[in-house]
Amino acid sequence: MRRKIIAGNWKMNMTPTEAKALATTLAPLVKNPEVDVVYCVPFIDIFPVKEVIAGTAVHLGAENVYFEEKGAFTGETSPAMLKDAGVEYVIIGHSERREYFHETDEIINKKLLKLLEHQFKPILCCGESLAQREAGVTMDFIRMQLKLAFQGVSASDAAKVTIAYEPIWAIGTGKTATVAQAEEVCRGIRETVKELYGEAIAEEIRIQYGGSMNEKNCKELLAEPDIDGGLIGGASLKPEFGHIVNYKA
Ligand code: G3H
Repeated sequence: MRRKIIAGNWKMNMTPTEAKALATTLAPLVKNPEVDVVYCVPFIDIFPVKEVIAGTAVHLGAENVYFEEKGAFTGETSPAMLKDAGVEYVIIGHSERREYFHETDEIINKKLLKLLEHQFKPILCCGESLAQREAGVTMDFIRMQLKLAFQGVSASDAAKVTIAYEPIWAIGTGKTATVAQAEEVCRGIRETVKELYGEAIAEEIRIQYGGSMNEKNCKELLAEPDIDGGLIGGASLKPEFGHIVNYKA
């Protein structure tokens, strides 16, 4: 039985002061022993958030990483820096980074390999644009993204990755994929993992849905057999996140 994983992606929101206040507000609300809860926060918020969640079951995550060990890469943050700061999960391949920061599948593959080398738990995002969905190539596109991202990753490492399916047209738009659409792609993702690594790894790997998930639609989405959690943007910045974590209540 796969354990659910619900992660907040705070994106470029929350100053350190605001981050501390938000984590403090969420503290009494975000409790569910059946779910792994992760806050993926901006680098500058890592320490204030870490301080608030210390001693709780909430896990610390980052929103990005660089794939080099150290050196002249102005403005970048290395895996060792995140490790030393206490980060456990790292989001890579988010469509916003692919689009605005021109991250290619090759870069994402390098990041994935580097994160696994440093024993992080990567959250690897994939997902189609509206044009791709309308052209009927959703699954072809996602299979390509996954195959390129996982190049050179061993089966035992692959199982440590959480895959987040995020249809780009559903991100921040209030337009959620239907439960059937989300499940269909998440099942397709599991089939792709099976092709790459076999049935046992496919059954073990966790797959999240992300894209306007909120307190109203989370219960239905999370009831699907291949949806093992959510990657939450907007709703992770509000007390509503507590309701999502307690989606069964
Ligand atoms: O990483 C999170 C997603 O991009 C979803 O964002 O919940 O604001 O649509 P959203």
